[in-house]
Amino acid sequence: MIIKTKEQMKGMQEIGKIVASVLKEMGEALEPGMTTAQLDEIGHQALARYGAVSAPIAVYNFPGYTCISVNEEVAHGIPSGRIIQVGDMVNIDVSAHKNGFYGDTAATFLIPPVKMKTKRLIECSKSALASAIKVVCAGNRLSEIGLVVEKEAHRNGYKTIRNLCGHGVGDTLHDEPESIYNYFEKHDKRIMLPGMVLAIEPFIAEKETYVLEEPDGWTLKTPKRTLTAQFEHSVVVTENEPIILTLPE
Ligand code: CO
Ligand code: CO
Repeated sequence: MIIKTKEQMKGMQEIGKIVASVLKEMGEALEPGMTTAQLDEIGHQALARYGAVSAPIAVYNFPGYTCISVNEEVAHGIPSGRIIQVGDMVNIDVSAHKNGFYGDTAATFLIPPVKMKTKRLIECSKSALASAIKVVCAGNRLSEIGLVVEKEAHRNGYKTIRNLCGHGVGDTLHDEPESIYNYFEKHDKRIMLPGMVLAIEPFIAEKETYVLEEPDGWTLKTPKRTLTAQFEHSVVVTENEPIILTLPE
């Protein structure tokens, strides 16, 4: 989506704040012994309180209000009876719509104590998103995002998942521009335009570079079950610094 009016900006800011606040609430509620379905229910209640509707359900008929992916699950994990354990890495992805506007954000949480190597992977994933947001500016190529994400991954001895991408967001969950790669794609000449809203979501991987879908039709894992971590923000391109929509209240 390209934001053209003040009203659109207000709508996008509102839903951005909502998904960020829901994500924060879920992250704070996380504790060992609870099931991912219980965690999802907290997300459900929070979305309802803000008058927002889960995008995974509305758009894809996903069997959960949010996507919760534990350890070897990379993304699109289905909330279930799985019990969260000490040492787990839990990715929560919250996307929703309100008044016709969509927002999308995600974070990976740790249930301490965790292994040092898990902590490192999370830190790199966080810094990759921060570096990506730094290159968001009208006139820059979209491919600069993949370039810096890949650079940050390689610098830390990691890889990026090549078949999971960021995307435009706004009037729909997966909007124009499609496919914001998490690696440098030199043939991608697309330019960032003022008002463009991007959901940037680098997946940093320990060893493998792609994911496969599980027989449940949703959950994504790497073939050898090696770990990945992801953080996601929805941001607006401007002539200066981007506006991060998905920050909590
Ligand atoms: Co997301
Ligand atoms: Co997304």
